[in-house]
Amino acid sequence: MILHPHFDVNEQGHLTIGGADALALANTFGTPAYILDETVIRENCRAYLHAAKTHFGADALPLYASKALSFTGIYRIVAEEGLGIDCVSGGELYTAQNARFPAERIYFHGNNKTDADLCQALEMGVGTIVVDGDEELEALHALASARGLAQKILLRITPGIDPHTHRAVVTGNVDSKFGNAIATGQALAITKKALSLSGVRLAGFHCHIGSQIFEIDPFRDAAHMMLRFIADVKAATGFEATELNLGGGLGVRYTEEDREIDYAAAIAAIAEIVRAGARSAGIAMPRVILEPGRSLVAAAGATLYTVGSVKEIPGFRNYVSVDGGMPDNPRYALYQSRYTALIADRAGEKKDYIATVAGRCCESGDLIGEGMPLQKPRRGDILAVLCTGAYNYSMASNYNRLPRPPVILVRDGKARVAVRRETFADLVDLDITE
Ligand code: LLP
Repeated sequence: MILHPHFDVNEQGHLTIGGADALALANTFGTPAYILDETVIRENCRAYLHAAKTHFGADALPLYASKALSFTGIYRIVAEEGLGIDCVSGGELYTAQNARFPAERIYFHGNNKTDADLCQALEMGVGTIVVDGDEELEALHALASARGLAQKILLRITPGIDPHTHRAVVTGNVDSKFGNAIATGQALAITKKALSLSGVRLAGFHCHIGSQIFEIDPFRDAAHMMLRFIADVKAATGFEATELNLGGGLGVRYTEEDREIDYAAAIAAIAEIVRAGARSAGIAMPRVILEPGRSLVAAAGATLYTVGSVKEIPGFRNYVSVDGGMPDNPRYALYQSRYTALIADRAGEKKDYIATVAGRCCESGDLIGEGMPLQKPRRGDILAVLCTGAYNYSMASNYNRLPRPPVILVRDGKARVAVRRETFADLVDLDITE
């Protein structure tokens, strides 16, 4: 096992992903390529659903935050596993619809939904719209009323929790483009407005405090803020929320230094916090919803590249350049996110070579990682970056006119193309030449 049980080494010393030989995958599908172990995604969905039903109750519905990885096939998988989804754009809604995802299990998010987005959601019959602000609320009321609808909504609330400095900075997140802050009174004001509008039917509240969180405490703080808010709303208006969506954010093990999170145990802990918090706030236990993105798909993925140049600069560092880079994985360039990489050809050998893994773009910041331990690389080797299932393909671009890699699903050792590789012809397909 390397980092996660589905990454292993076979008798030839090659990396295997979900039982499939990484070199054979690279040979068949070319590089760069995103490989996803479908079994891992399905197991993660089942673990979340089972834990949510066990600890929150039979009507629990975890949502897959599909911004993490969006293509038609993933919505099919998530639909089959019985989860709902979070969509944040017309494009995600369209892709979900293309997969025939049940619309009533869709939650539609976003801090600046256009009228066109809202109409699309209403026409699709999206179950729940998470309203971010006043203008959107008014627009939705008008659009839904005109169709004779009372659209189910949640209101996005900013509880004021910064997950990385939580407790110390309890108003840290009030300054946000998202949602309505409790601390400023805007959350209560928009709640009153929502209750007065016939085109919407308020079911409860939503918050999302951040991503790649390893501790339960920030969720505890957020849940307490939200439950107190529900109680305050009840006292002020008589309305008692029946739904509380606590967002996503549980972390993923990207490197040996990251902890493994037991998601079922985390869900059990959150359920206990909400149950006790609701009791002490004097409100009924709401239906609790979680929206994991990263923790459902990140670990399932790996990106395969071919090593090109290996440049050793005496006294400085070693650059290993691969045939992809920031267009297929912008996360180091954007956030200095750390990954585990290895040479798939010699996966069982010791990693005694330290390199900066660089992409092929005309830009020095085009790096996959710095100080990465690897087996000594040679031109033509396959370099694998692990845990790239989340926020890689979904954030990919065509910078430098690089075609986007395919997405390959592996299940029971067998591989199939879920998204084909872009071609140069695809790149010019939108260009008008006349
Ligand atoms: N719900 C809402 C409303 C969100 O905004 C997000 C993520 C999630 C759920 C899912 O969070 P997760 O479980 O994946 O942490 N591009 C960044 C991550 C941005 C996350 C945005 N919102 C990255 O590559 O790290």
